[in-house]
Amino acid sequence: MLLPCASNLRAQRDLGVDFESGEHALVEGDNLEVLKLLASSCAGTVDLVYIDPPYNRGHDRLYPDDYSVTRKDYAARSTTGDDGASGHLHAQWLSLMAPRLALARELLHETGIIAVSIDQLEVSRLRLLMEELFGEENFVAEIVVSLNPKGRQLAPFFATSHEYLLVFARDFRKTALVAASKESVDPSDFPRADERGRYRLLPLRNTNKKFNPTSSRSMHFAVWAHPRDGRVRAEPFEDAVEVWPVFGDGSSAVWRWSARRIESDCDQLVARQVKGRGGARLDVYQIDRLTPERTKKLRTIWTSAEVGSTDDAVSQLKALVGPVFPTPKPVGLLRRLLATMPKDSVVLDFFAGSGTTGQAVIEANADDGGTRRCVLVQAVEPTEPGGEAAQRGLASIAAIAAARMRATIERCRAARASGVPGPGLRVFELSPAAPEAGLDDDRELLVQVFRRRS
Ligand SMILES: C[S@@+](CC[C@H](N)C(=O)[O-])C[C@H]1O[C@@H](n2cnc3c(N)ncnc32)[C@H](O)[C@@H]1O
Repeated sequence: MLLPCASNLRAQRDLGVDFESGEHALVEGDNLEVLKLLASSCAGTVDLVYIDPPYNRGHDRLYPDDYSVTRKDYAARSTTGDDGASGHLHAQWLSLMAPRLALARELLHETGIIAVSIDQLEVSRLRLLMEELFGEENFVAEIVVSLNPKGRQLAPFFATSHEYLLVFARDFRKTALVAASKESVDPSDFPRADERGRYRLLPLRNTNKKFNPTSSRSMHFAVWAHPRDGRVRAEPFEDAVEVWPVFGDGSSAVWRWSARRIESDCDQLVARQVKGRGGARLDVYQIDRLTPERTKKLRTIWTSAEVGSTDDAVSQLKALVGPVFPTPKPVGLLRRLLATMPKDSVVLDFFAGSGTTGQAVIEANADDGGTRRCVLVQAVEPTEPGGEAAQRGLASIAAIAAARMRATIERCRAARASGVPGPGLRVFELSPAAPEAGLDDDRELLVQVFRRRS
């Protein structure tokens, strides 16, 4: 059962950028408390939840529980038949995820989606948990993301080179997700060219044998084509010959377009001589052009060549803040995900780490004029004393995320014409216990970031 939230939010104006007008936010605090705090006032406002939670590799420190049993101890207990700890490792991880995912669902707009990065250790349990919380019918995809092209050579058998992105819709029938992109269009799929640019020829005949003159009677009719100049019409014209839809083996087929569409869009059709089993004959093709607006469906395997590798991710963070966080995600992974949702999406990442999601949102807006907003939540977690981050004055992981957001904003502002306002950032910390006298609760300042919809 979820206990009520016992925390306040306190604005940290000096850590933000143009705090009052800032459209992005970073909260330092346990995400369960922050999600509870937002649950009532921000329900149904989020378009995209992306999270990259701890993968439960045994050394993760799971919040907010006291994680006192190591994987080694757990394994030793299990093999010695002490089943008092049976399932403990996974149960503890699932106890971390379940209430947070349940609250994330409440925050999602009915057209929204949630995408969760995970590896092979917990993917099966996470999928079952998400099916339970979001509904099996709202499952969208289990995407294989290959972020480590060389593979983990230290892995016991195969050199694992991929992980997963589990995607669920809040409501599969209403989702705003468009899983297609301009970048996935391959110009070599359009091998022909004329004065209007590249194109390909697609058979006008329906190549799916399920559609035939018995199943689709109205699509089985003759069209008229000119044997020399290739013109095609639904009606007879001078020197035209009749062409029926047939499969390669000569059996009867159907067209993909109705007679009415063939007549109205006849400039997009051409007839060509082909060699069939019964000798040469005319067939009809659609001239399918490569236009700038063209998109192609995204596949369910995303490669490091497309979205960046783990090495790229480290370099991207290093370029902005330094080599201060070991496991960031590549910006390209987030950019691809953002591109599947509307340009004015409210984006929430409550396992923020170094703030890759924030960088991706700000850069996506700068590139396409979008008005996305993003809210990051990162637990209070100190960086390693004496490590790279600490040496750079970054005492906590939230400080890394804040520094990354500020650096991205600065870079983005530098690229803008002078006078054009740039993005801004509101930073908050979670502070204990609501009733404390004299403590301001700044939650409304965070809630405003979610209230894009009027
Ligand atoms: C795998 S990292 C995320 C990395 C991030 N995607 C990036 O690109 O930098 C997971 C993060 O979640 C944080 N975390 C773990 N438990 C948390 C909790 N209960 N609330 C908020 N953050 C938490 C960890 O401190 C860690 O920074």
